Amino acid sequence: MFRAFLGIESTAGRRAAIAMIALLILTLALSAYFGYRAYRLPIDDQPLDTDAYRGQRYHLLLIGQEADNPYWQRILTGARRAAQAADVYLDYRAPSTPDPEAPQKLIEWGTFVRVDGILTPGLDPQRYAPVIDRAVAAGIPVITIDTDAPASRRIAFVGTYNYYAGRQAARELVRLTGGRARIGIITGRLDTSSFAERVQGFLDEIHAYPEMHVLAIEASDLSRLFAAEKASQMLQKYPDLNAFFGTSALDGPGIVDALRRHGRAGRVAVVAFDDLPETVAALHSGTIQAIVVQNPELIGEYSIRLMVKTLSGQPVAPLNLTDTHILRHRQLPRRN
Ligand code: BGC
Repeated sequence: MFRAFLGIESTAGRRAAIAMIALLILTLALSAYFGYRAYRLPIDDQPLDTDAYRGQRYHLLLIGQEADNPYWQRILTGARRAAQAADVYLDYRAPSTPDPEAPQKLIEWGTFVRVDGILTPGLDPQRYAPVIDRAVAAGIPVITIDTDAPASRRIAFVGTYNYYAGRQAARELVRLTGGRARIGIITGRLDTSSFAERVQGFLDEIHAYPEMHVLAIEASDLSRLFAAEKASQMLQKYPDLNAFFGTSALDGPGIVDALRRHGRAGRVAVVAFDDLPETVAALHSGTIQAIVVQNPELIGEYSIRLMVKTLSGQPVAPLNLTDTHILRHRQLPRRN
């Protein structure tokens, strides 16, 4: 019957046909497997939160910079609150350690599986604009959060006015040091626009003070360990360094580690970013003197609300800047 089906009479011909069919099946299986792998979740240790799935109206993808980073956890808290209120299934994905390629791959994945909308940090504009544009071209709106990608076709940005926040930090350091400081800057990353804007705002603000000098700017790559290492190197290289500015959430705790290691805690003025519990504890103990506090919960909450508005056809403003305020330690640091 099989022979009849193939319509082949000779044994050799039959073997060749069977071999070709087998090859075809193998090729199909391999391409299905590799196609699946290529578009499989780029972050493989995070299962879908199926408990939260109840056939909601929209499926949104929220991309973070680092899964367990307390700053991103707060963005998630705000986003979850808004998602629940708006009948949205929220899929949070982030690498376990900061990896600039991960959000890019996640945007591609979200586009492939056709979520209804994507919320992502913009990070490196060169790298992110094309993938954001591809998602938007495929009909999936993208909102940037925390870090913008203004050259892309993102619908809107929700986050801190980073340049202004950098100026705020500089004003605090001027106040703390009486306008005379030799400063080390520890910044999250050098290629990320939000940190570059914070540093630029800082530099522009101190420009008016001839005795405020920046000795070095180093990247922590968003790691507390690296922040401590870079701060430590600066303390060794510049014995007259008397001030630090940390631009990302883990830089403050890293700077504190370095100051403690060098026995300089409380003797160097420190302005840090974000009110993580450890940063606030260091403010209480006087190792950090001021914190620029962002509003991550509001960023998360507002971005989901904007996405829902977009998906229901309402217009949204492109720039949505959340406020920052300064948290201060009462005492001025002792001078060297
Ligand atoms: C920044 C985030 C960053 C976080 C890292 C925050 O200050 O706004 O972009 O991911 O620090 O710890």
